[in-house]
Amino acid sequence: MTSIHPSNRHRFWPLLRCFLVGAAFCLPLSLTTAAEKQPLSRGEFVFRATGGCSCHTDFQNKGQRLAGGRSLKTPYGPIYSSNITTDKSTGIGNWQAADFIRAMQQGVGPGGKKFYFLEKHYFPVFPYTAFTKIREPDLVALWEYLQTVPPVVARNKPHDMMPPFGWRINLIVWKWFNFTSGEFTPNPAQSEEWNQGAYLVKAMAHCEECHSPRNLMGGLKHDQLFIGSKDGPEGELAPNITPDKTTGIGNWKPSDLSWFLKTGQKPDGDFAWGLMSEVIFEGYQFLDTADLDHIVRYIMSQTPVQHKVR
Ligand code: HEC
Repeated sequence: MTSIHPSNRHRFWPLLRCFLVGAAFCLPLSLTTAAEKQPLSRGEFVFRATGGCSCHTDFQNKGQRLAGGRSLKTPYGPIYSSNITTDKSTGIGNWQAADFIRAMQQGVGPGGKKFYFLEKHYFPVFPYTAFTKIREPDLVALWEYLQTVPPVVARNKPHDMMPPFGWRINLIVWKWFNFTSGEFTPNPAQSEEWNQGAYLVKAMAHCEECHSPRNLMGGLKHDQLFIGSKDGPEGELAPNITPDKTTGIGNWKPSDLSWFLKTGQKPDGDFAWGLMSEVIFEGYQFLDTADLDHIVRYIMSQTPVQHKVR
């Protein structure tokens, strides 16, 4: 074993530090260049912009990509994400494009029962409240991308939510109060770039689904979007991302935010953890600089709200 002579230690540590700092810089850079090599197909673009559907992969238990089974904590008990691979018996391999589009736009499963109250309504952990805003050609492209996901046999687990919250029939009432279907409509008073950012954020990246507080029914508080939530998804704290200088990200430069969405690194050198790191690494990091800039422009244009999330 080689050891460093004590008299040489003062030379070794700066060198090692140099190397570590260099490596820390090179890692995100290499991710960046890898991600920018090829332009994405529209379908993969939509997939990445949603955060790579990362909730459908059970990373913690080394689950297969998009095969579901991941426990997502809700205040009412755990719910398990579903298998969205092309497996015919346990995934969505038997679905038609129209089934997928309806699921995304209306939050209902395939089958198309005649009566609304008999349909399989989805729990809003599946953020169809955002995805309903995705334009139909983009949903079709996403559907086509999902056809390229290899089939994995993994049976969906029933949820463990306590009654009566676990009863799907309640979702009709929930939707009545908390859900409006319909695709994104641009704001004509704003620029094209701003609207592009708004579309990416609200329809695909669903930032507000995690970064906003919810009412007693678990619906988003629409007058408090982006101000952060102390019980965000999986019980994690989701910070205030309005441009407030003391409690939000008002001290971040626009380039800090796009760098963060590309690499997970914050201006103070810390890295994102939890669900944020998953949506970055499975999704947002693959978007090109122009798209990230649009997202940043939209987020930074929000009204700063002082709201400390503990
Ligand atoms: C699936 C849930 C989820 C989604 C979607 C999501 N975030 Fe986050 N985000 C989190 C969580 C949880 C944290 C806390 C983890 C951390 O700070 O590292 C976080 C942290 C952040 C931070 C760090 C703030 C700080 O003060 O440290 C920023 C900035 C951020 N998110 C922006 C965004 C933007 C912009 C989007 C959409 C493009 C987005 N997030 C989408 C869950 C999410």
